[in-house]
Amino acid sequence: MTDLMTRRFSFLSLTSASLLAGLLLSTTVSADSTEDAIQYRQSVFHTLAWQFSPMGAMVKGKQDYDADEFQTRAERLALLAQLPWEGFIAGSYDGDTDALSKIDTDKTGFEKHAQALMDQSQTLSEVAATQDFAKIRVQFAATAKTCKSCHQEYRAD
Ligand code: HEC
Repeated sequence: MTDLMTRRFSFLSLTSASLLAGLLLSTTVSADSTEDAIQYRQSVFHTLAWQFSPMGAMVKGKQDYDADEFQTRAERLALLAQLPWEGFIAGSYDGDTDALSKIDTDKTGFEKHAQALMDQSQTLSEVAATQDFAKIRVQFAATAKTCKSCHQEYRAD
């Protein structure tokens, strides 16, 4: 019994040691990790836009307003809005990306824009829960503005 537990324990510490080694490896910048980071952030933005579009269609009257669907998508957006930023790592501004290297030299400015999206989308999910369509439209526009202003400054057209 004790033997078994000891063996299991050493197996566990071996596993966490290799996990740690893996984590350390992934923080060194290689061509592979920068490509991964680019793909990661692009796929988050792609997923985010997938959730965002139907809300836009509802706000513009191109799709019937469905309060539950809108709320679900707004909640997903608020969550997704927290994810892209860790993909903006040093050395990931060349290659198959539209992200400008200015992101690396003007981190404070970029983070301000990222924070604006996180804040506005969080507010959107709260306003969506009230199901007050007039207020929702205003808050949707405020959220969409954060996409546009960051793209204008930090993304190649
Ligand atoms: C803080 C800056 C910032 C904000 C805010 C932002 N984006 Fe982006 N977005 C970027 C950058 C930079 C790229 C380019 C990423 C790349 O190519 O590596 C991008 C790329 C994209 C792409 C293309 C992804 C692909 O497949 O290549 C879409 C779609 C997108 N954003 C949608 C949105 C939407 C919708 C919002 C708002 C709800 C938003 N973004 C908010 C900076 C931002």
